[in-house]
Amino acid sequence: MRRLLLSVIAIAFSITMLSANGTAMAQDAETEGAIKYRKAVMTAVRGHMGAMAGILKGSGNKADLTTHANAMVSMSKISATVFSEGSDFGETTALPAVWEKPDDFAMAIKAFQDAAANVATAAKGGDMAAFGQAFGGLGKSCKDCHENFREKKEKKWKK
Ligand code: HEC
Repeated sequence: MRRLLLSVIAIAFSITMLSANGTAMAQDAETEGAIKYRKAVMTAVRGHMGAMAGILKGSGNKADLTTHANAMVSMSKISATVFSEGSDFGETTALPAVWEKPDDFAMAIKAFQDAAANVATAAKGGDMAAFGQAFGGLGKSCKDCHENFREKKEKKWKK
């Protein structure tokens, strides 16, 4: 009887461990997915940035400038939602500061959104000099945030 009881306890214990493990795995998958999504969003941001830089240099299609600029406005809004709580470990180069200094990070997001809005306004206006200036401001917003909230590239996965 005692033996039976012990094995019942042992089985119950392994089931508990299994499901705890399952939960951990589900969380890992969720985190991994959140990080992948964040990187995809940032890659899209870079894509529109590169496309606008091309148009500014005279290659590409000037008529598409507003499309890229408006897309950047949308991406800047999405960017505010891709740093979910708990997505701070794993294959990410986001620094803990994103979550440890939420007010500073919110300011960096706001600067990005404002700069993207300026770029969209300038693109609509059609004056390329004004656009160039707004575009510079947008580039600065990337750089400022990356400097404070993203690991320097050379540090990535060298540990
Ligand atoms: C508010 C902060 C912030 C702003 C603004 C910002 N980024 Fe990022 N960016 C990050 C962080 C943090 C990461 C690291 C994400 C990760 O590894 O999880 C990142 C990653 C990236 C990546 C690498 C994605 C990958 O696959 O690893 C690119 C490219 C990028 N950003 C481009 C830009 C460009 C271009 C702009 C401006 C138009 C910009 N970012 C604006 C915070 C920002």
